[in-house]
Amino acid sequence: MNDSIALCVVMMPRDSNVYGTIFGGIILSYIDQAGFIEARKHGNHRWVTASIDKVDFERPVCIGDVVRFYTKTIKTGTSSVSIEIIVESERLATAEKLQVTKARLTMVSVDENGKSIPFTSPQTAHKKASA
Ligand SMILES: CC(C)(COP(=O)(O)OP(=O)(O)OC[C@H]1O[C@@H](n2cnc3c(N)ncnc32)[C@H](O)[C@@H]1OP(=O)(O)O)[C@@H](O)C(=O)NCCC(=O)NCCS
Repeated sequence: MNDSIALCVVMMPRDSNVYGTIFGGIILSYIDQAGFIEARKHGNHRWVTASIDKVDFERPVCIGDVVRFYTKTIKTGTSSVSIEIIVESERLATAEKLQVTKARLTMVSVDENGKSIPFTSPQTAHKKASA
């Protein structure tokens, strides 16, 4: 279960706060997406975020940084998958690569009605919710 790049994005001025660094919420949103991309490796289901356990914002992310989200499955249950996400920023000016954020979250596979299902079940991503 090695780290792989789930997402790679360039941070834009619209994502910044008044100090010129990137809002933590923007990074969190990408962390959530990266978690979904990692979870899908375990089954093509509807996956929901059950928890974001811990997020350490270790260094700021700056406008123009190329930000990579590395994911790794660290634990699997029946319907849940725990994922570690390491966020790395490549600085615009210097191309230096720094770890900026680390997070853990849990994704749960659910059926079309939002009920948890084993992620080994036949895929559910295509199913529409029943009325
Ligand atoms: C996640 C959710 C499906 C779990 O529902 P539930 O009734 O607790 O489901 P279950 O009791 O069957 O548990 C299912 C699995 O989720 C895990 N789980 C439930 N709540 C959890 C939590 N807060 N943190 C970590 N894991 C959790 C359980 O440990 C279990 O794991 P396992 O199957 O591997 O043993 C439900 O809480 C939910 O739909 N939450 C909203 C998800 C969402 O919309 N996320 C986006 C936020 S806007």
